[in-house]
Amino acid sequence: MRSRLIIRVAFILTFSLISFSPLGVSEAVADGGDALPHQQGLDNDTCLTCHDVPGMQMELPSGQVLYLTVDSVSYITSSHGHEGIACVDCHIGFDGFPHESISARSIREFTLDQYTLCAECHEDKYDATLDSVHQKSLAGGNLEAAVCTDCHDPHRTQPPDVPRSRIPQTCERCHSQIYDVYKESVHGAALIGEGNPDVPSCTDCHGVHDVEGPTSSSFHLFSPQICADCHADEERMERYGVSADVFETYVADFHGTTVILFEETAPDQETNKPVCIDCHGVHDMLKVDDPESRVIKNNLLTTCQKCHPDADENFPSSWLSHYKPSPENNPAVFYVDLFYKILIPGVIGGMVLFVASDGIRRLIERREGVSDE
Ligand code: HEC
Ligand code: HEC
Ligand code: HEC
Ligand code: HEC
Ligand code: HEC
Ligand code: HEC
Ligand code: HEC
Ligand code: HEC
Ligand code: HEC
Repeated sequence: MRSRLIIRVAFILTFSLISFSPLGVSEAVADGGDALPHQQGLDNDTCLTCHDVPGMQMELPSGQVLYLTVDSVSYITSSHGHEGIACVDCHIGFDGFPHESISARSIREFTLDQYTLCAECHEDKYDATLDSVHQKSLAGGNLEAAVCTDCHDPHRTQPPDVPRSRIPQTCERCHSQIYDVYKESVHGAALIGEGNPDVPSCTDCHGVHDVEGPTSSSFHLFSPQICADCHADEERMERYGVSADVFETYVADFHGTTVILFEETAPDQETNKPVCIDCHGVHDMLKVDDPESRVIKNNLLTTCQKCHPDADENFPSSWLSHYKPSPENNPAVFYVDLFYKILIPGVIGGMVLFVASDGIRRLIERREGVSDE
């Protein structure tokens, strides 16, 4: 009941305000009743005389309260306000008061009815969201899946990636458990703590408007490529003293080879071969020398045992890890490699040399033969 009262008071207050304005009530009355003047493109001030009043609200059939105050200062300083977008550019058809009655019974229904108006000017973003996990989930009946206005407040829109830590915080609202884990990871700590632009935020791995999820196994198979975007980038990795060979060595490895093959031939097929995240974790990825890291010596066997249940302590050392063989790492493989590197060119080179010199010898002999005749 109190809410009704507040609306009434706000209404009376603003109505009297409007009557003093040049566009005032005389025209409105001439228009027949208590409607505001019908004119194309009502300016923001007209809407804000009512909606800037604090505490304005209405009760929905569900019993939930919808807050109706739009803070004028926040609006003017928002990205849309700054661009000179008018209330009625979004709220098309709002040409006065009373407004047409709405059908939404709850706040969520109201949001789901309204967000589609963003498509008017951001068709590309809107189209991109159509295939996202969020839209699929929504279509499947999960009304909590994210739509435009969950991630961008329409009246307080600010650049969504400034500062960059705003991106994971946008997702945190609904994925708080993942956010909490991510924020402690080698990537998240650098982004949230230090504003580091080199590490991935949620959207670098998942996409933004076309968010993809692990329910598609192609995402799982494709995930090493996401890591490679940065981890094969020499310049970026050099800044942190991290090897940029990890992707190449992964692909060269029997594990990686099969996965890459799968991706090219049958991206929708399940694979049991490990991708980067099977060894390193996903959102909880740590520095490899962190005592909690899944790939530090003490934990590595457990990591391998997920798929090689019979593996014993010596098992991990049967694998080259990301190292290119060298006299220090896997000398046996290194020297066998080296041996072949010398032997094969040696043998082939020798043969070529032999054939060539033989040919030349024959040529010379033939010439000599000809001149002899
Ligand atoms: C005279 C006061 C007044 C003015 C002017 C006014 N509104 Fe409203 N508005 C209200 C009240 C009161 C409600 C509560 C619902 C109702 O009674 O229709 C409301 C509700 C709304 C709602 C949410 C629910 C609905 O009915 O759709 C939107 C959106 C809205 N107004 C937008 C606008 C826009 C845009 C303008 C400017 C073109 C505007 N309003 C001008 C008083 C006003
Ligand atoms: C960029 C588009 C856009 C602009 C510009 C815009 N709105 Fe809205 N407005 C929306 C959307 C979308 C919603 C539904 C929000 C939700 O999910 O609850 C909304 C909701 C509202 C509501 C209902 C209460 C609420 O906040 O959910 C009111 C009242 C309202 N707008 C008034 C205004 C006024 C007044 C202005 C101008 C100062 C304005 N709007 C400018 C898109 C816009
Ligand atoms: C009447 C046209 C119009 C409508 C409708 C509209 N926008 Fe915008 N929006 C703009 C313009 C113009 C810009 C500034 C230029 C740009 O970045 O594209 C903008 C920018 C943005 C930005 C980037 C802000 C920044 O500072 O980088 C976001 C996010 C955004 N809009 C979200 C929305 C959402 C969400 C909706 C629906 C509630 C919406 N817009 C509806 C015109 C519109
Ligand atoms: C799950 C959250 C989420 C949803 C849903 C979402 N966005 Fe975004 N949007 C973001 C984030 C985060 C960014 C920051 C850019 C980035 O990470 O590349 C962004 C960026 C933008 C930009 C600025 C892009 C640029 O190039 O400057 C616009 C405009 C925009 N979104 C509009 C929309 C519209 C319209 C919808 C609905 C069709 C929508 N967004 C749905 C999270 C979302
Ligand atoms: C308004 C709440 C909300 C926000 C904000 C939100 N999400 Fe979601 N997200 C959901 C819901 C609900 C699901 C569907 C969960 C399900 O169906 O199991 C989902 C699903 C996902 C999935 C697929 C999960 C799976 O198991 O298939 C990914 C990936 C995802 N979101 C990423 C993001 C990212 C990245 C952001 C930030 C840019 C974000 N979400 C923001 C609500 C949200
Ligand atoms: C380094 C890349 C990366 C970053 C950064 C990242 N993710 Fe993920 N995320 C993945 C991968 C890969 C999977 C799929 C795991 C699998 O296939 O089992 C996943 C799975 C998910 C899932 C569904 C599975 C689950 O665990 O519930 C959600 C939801 C999700 N991520 C949201 C987020 C959010 C929110 C953030 C930011 C706080 C984020 N992700 C940051 C790569 C990333
Ligand atoms: C079979 C398990 C496994 C797979 C698959 C795997 N890694 Fe590793 N990774 C390790 C181990 C073990 C180490 C630690 C090597 C050491 O310090 O001896 C490591 C180290 C690293 C390092 C640190 C390198 C440095 O210079 O300190 C990075 C970065 C890395 N891996 C990224 C990746 C990426 C990206 C992929 C996928 C392309 C991947 N890993 C696939 C097990 C794996
Ligand atoms: C947007 C770029 C980017 C993407 C994408 C990315 N990383 Fe990273 N990653 C970094 C940077 C930069 C660091 C170094 C951060 C630091 O040390 O502060 C890092 C650090 C790491 C480390 C710790 C290395 C060490 O110091 O021991 C591992 C492990 C790792 N990433 C694995 C992965 C895996 C696996 C993926 C894919 C699922 C991935 N990263 C995706 C940029 C990226
Ligand atoms: C996600 C599951 C998974 C994880 C985790 C995993 N592997 Fe494997 N590994 C496989 C599969 C599957 C094969 C068979 C590859 C093939 O036949 O193409 C394999 C093959 C191998 C082989 C070749 C010899 C053999 O047994 O066929 C070695 C050596 C190996 N893995 C070592 C490791 C080590 C060391 C670790 C831990 C650092 C590890 N693997 C972690 C799935 C995994």
